[in-house]
This record gives sequence, C-alpha cells and structure tokens, in this order.
Amino acid sequence: MSAASSSETSTGFKIQDVFQHLWSDYTAFNPQAKRIYDLLLAREQKAEPTLHSLANDHIALRTFNIPRIGLEALSRLFERHGYAKGGEYEFKDKKLRAWHLEHPDESLPRVFISELELEKLSSFVRETAEAAAESLTTEDVSREDFLWSRRKWKASHATYLKLLEESEYAAWMYAFGFRSNHFTISFNALETFKDLQELNQFIRAQGIELNVSGGEIKGSPAVYLEQSSTLAEPTQVTFDEGTKTIPACYYEFARRYPLPDGQLYQGFVSSSADKIFESTDVKKK
Ligand code: NI
Repeated sequence: MSAASSSETSTGFKIQDVFQHLWSDYTAFNPQAKRIYDLLLAREQKAEPTLHSLANDHIALRTFNIPRIGLEALSRLFERHGYAKGGEYEFKDKKLRAWHLEHPDESLPRVFISELELEKLSSFVRETAEAAAESLTTEDVSREDFLWSRRKWKASHATYLKLLEESEYAAWMYAFGFRSNHFTISFNALETFKDLQELNQFIRAQGIELNVSGGEIKGSPAVYLEQSSTLAEPTQVTFDEGTKTIPACYYEFARRYPLPDGQLYQGFVSSSADKIFESTDVKKK
C-alpha cells in the first residue's frame, strides 16, 4: 500500500466523493438545480464541445453552534482533506457567524459554513435546536457522510412555523438537517455570457424565479464579487402532522473579479451573503 494521499482518510471518502454525494442529495431535493446545470452545460458545450462539466464556485452548509455539530466540527471534515480557513464573517441581524474554507487545488470549490448563534435567540429556539441535536454523537460528526445525513430527528410543522417567526435559518435547519444548502455556478468558467445580467436573463427565460432581496445582483466589481441566486424551490417535507410543502434549496451564480494584484478575489462579501441567505425565505402571502 502506498503512502496515504492527502485526499484520503480513514473513513474512506475522497474529497471528490464528498462533493458528489452532496450534489446527489442536493439535486434529489432540488431538481431545478440539475435542470439549470444541464441547460447551462448544453449551452456551453455548443461553444466548447469537449467541455464535460461546469465549475462550482462554492457550496454552503448550515448548522447550529452546538460545539459537537458546530462550524469548527464541520470544518474539520474538510481540513483533513487539505482545506484551510480563508475568511470569517459575522451576520449580526441573522445571528450567524461563518467561515469560508479554500483548497490549494483550485479545481475544488470553496466551502462556506455558517452557524446559528443560539445564545442570541429565545430559549424556545435554543431548546428546540438542542433537542434536535441530542441524538447526534461526536462519532457521527467525525465522518464525512454526516454532511449529507439530512434530518435525524422527528419534526413538527407547528414547531417549524414557530421557529420561522424568529429565525428563517433555524426553521430551515430544523426541517432539513444536514445537507448542502446550495451549490454555485462559477460565472468565470462560463464562456457564453458577457455578464451576470445576461446569465440571470437566461435563467429567468426558463421560467425560474430569482431572489430579488437587495437587488437581483448582490455586490459589484468594486467589492470584487457579484452574486445572484434562484429562489428556493418548494419541496415536500414529512412532519408529524403530515406532508407539507416548504422552500428547500436554491442555486447561486457567482462572478469573481481580480484584486489590484491580479489575483482573483477568493472571499465573500457579508452584505451580499446576508441577502443571499434570504433565498430560502418563505414567501409572505
Ligand atoms: Ni453562496
């Protein structure tokens, strides 16, 4: 047996497999994302017939700040594959903090992990999150497949609605558990669009709604990052009371600009990410 490669661990997952599992889980819940991916790939292949896949700028993961399952615990699952922390972010109104992780191999996506700061929320939110996480062990969280383990707890729709009043993020976590919240098309790797506006127009022309909170495009060349996203697709979720349809996951599009030193900007812009989070908001009637 040869020396262990940096992309392999005792749990047997290669980092590419981790993203493949996350993608399979994500598209199973969010078939619209697969449709968008296939449409864009087909369009790009007309310009470049040998192209076989589209680049992913980043994935996003959500959790509660309970140490066993928190931001640091999830980050370790990527750090063991050579990822390192690239930036820290704070979302005061949403009571979240986040890190982005990046890998020296630029073909691997960035990983954006946020966690809900439970001590800043009501005892109802805190106790619901703690009860949900109760059955999850350190052992469970030490395996990469925890990242797409979905929801291990029973959930009630009444509790979901009550969480929603206080924190959309808490309600989403409670309903869906552990999985990728979104994947992101890298605009920079696309050849057939002149700008993000044109890409958005292409998406809208397919009858797909975009998140317009904070404007259709968040950010600008001045902050080296422009982002847009679809609105989360409604999905059927099983609750104690029966099946309900609620917003699940969205697809994001990101265009990065070079810094004055010529290097492509690698980070995230808090004011933009703050609005992107609202892509999973339940639409107000
Ligand atoms: Ni994102």
